[in-house]
Amino acid sequence: MKIAIIGQGYVGQTLSVVAAEAGYKVIGIDSNAELVSNLLRGESFVPGITKETLASLNVKENFLPSTNLELLNDCEIIVIAVPTPIDINRNPDLNYLVAACKSISTYAKLPSLIISESTSYPGTLRNVIKPAIEKYSDIEFQYAVAPERVDPGNEKWNLKNTTRVIAGLTDTATKTAISFYSNFCQNIYRASSPEVAEAAKLLENTFRQVNIALVNEFSNIMSSLDISANEVVEAASSKPFGFMKFLPSIGVGGHCIPVDPEYITYFARSKGISSPLIETANKINFERPTQIIDRIEKYLGFKLIGKRIQIVGIAYKSGVVDIRESPAIELIHKLRNIGASVSWHDPVVKMWLDEKSTLLDPSVDLGLIITPHSEIDLSVWKNSKTTVLDLSATSQNLGWPRIL
Ligand SMILES: NC(=O)c1ccc[n+]([C@@H]2O[C@H](COP(=O)([O-])OP(=O)(O)OC[C@H]3O[C@@H](n4cnc5c(N)ncnc54)[C@H](O)[C@@H]3O)[C@@H](O)[C@H]2O)c1
Repeated sequence: MKIAIIGQGYVGQTLSVVAAEAGYKVIGIDSNAELVSNLLRGESFVPGITKETLASLNVKENFLPSTNLELLNDCEIIVIAVPTPIDINRNPDLNYLVAACKSISTYAKLPSLIISESTSYPGTLRNVIKPAIEKYSDIEFQYAVAPERVDPGNEKWNLKNTTRVIAGLTDTATKTAISFYSNFCQNIYRASSPEVAEAAKLLENTFRQVNIALVNEFSNIMSSLDISANEVVEAASSKPFGFMKFLPSIGVGGHCIPVDPEYITYFARSKGISSPLIETANKINFERPTQIIDRIEKYLGFKLIGKRIQIVGIAYKSGVVDIRESPAIELIHKLRNIGASVSWHDPVVKMWLDEKSTLLDPSVDLGLIITPHSEIDLSVWKNSKTTVLDLSATSQNLGWPRIL
């Protein structure tokens, strides 16, 4: 069966590979020509998708990355995996989603099953995707949602062994979507409606956002005692029930945790319902980089103005090149705004705007570890007298003061 996946980022590529391995002929559509030609050359930025993976799929034969929308015409299943970010007012931006719908309505010619894996608020499939496609097409498509839960770089939980929540607008759509995912997902959860599935995805990430905000707030309180909330969390984690470990951090990043809760608060506002807990959690995590500067100054006993500072790791988490919403970037901006001279070292991200990753520098006034990718060798700092603080959200003890 020939299928198309619109959007070849973290989510779309991961699904393309797994579906092609399961025997589907996969067309991987992306509007980014450079990304497509990289994939055709066997190069991917997604952790776990190696040259060997792409070679074994026989790229072009079983997985054809392309910008050519005409290839949608005879696909029996079309999966949407485009970004659903927030706009400058932190409201949902569904422009990519609507553009993908327009492509489907213009180019798809079979009564295919349209599946959205993109995260959005409840009712998006029914009230945004379906009408956007039907606006330009008379074809009677089927519609389902199967929100992606992939955690790029996670070696234990992947697309195959993470239960997939699925629901269609009709019984036929649900059954066809379940039969598709059953070919490569070990467990399927059938939700009673697309709205339940869409809301479940938002609840999962809002749960993380709120709990991270809780430990971050706890970390502020613990600083008055000069103790690290990390140690408190470790101690609390010894309880085998009723507690789940979240680590304090300089904020949250990526395309999910800082973004998805904004989708649910937007939805709540549109229904005239207040959601103060989620809004406060968003605010706490959003303000974190500014608070951290105060915390660092208090701990070190001097102001950071005019100091030479190097940040280690600017990706939003270890092992990925993704810098979307990265709090490390926010911290760099804030430190530069107060007059510090900031360089950064990240051998995974390598480039950010027109700045290049710099070598680890033992002569800086302060080193800040934010995202310690496994590729990073910290021995230069270990073997020098550089003042270093560990601000990473990891249980690993890197050997420097952890002030969060
Ligand atoms: N990244 C994650 O870990 C993750 C996990 C679960 C769910 N999600 C959700 O999955 C969706 C996709 O996220 P992602 O991280 O894969 O995004 P991404 O930015 O990595 O990839 C999206 C791709 O879609 C392409 N694109 C955008 N509009 C297009 C269009 N109209 N036609 C063709 N291609 C188009 C972009 O060029 C890009 O390559 C989002 O809704 C996100 O919230 C992401």
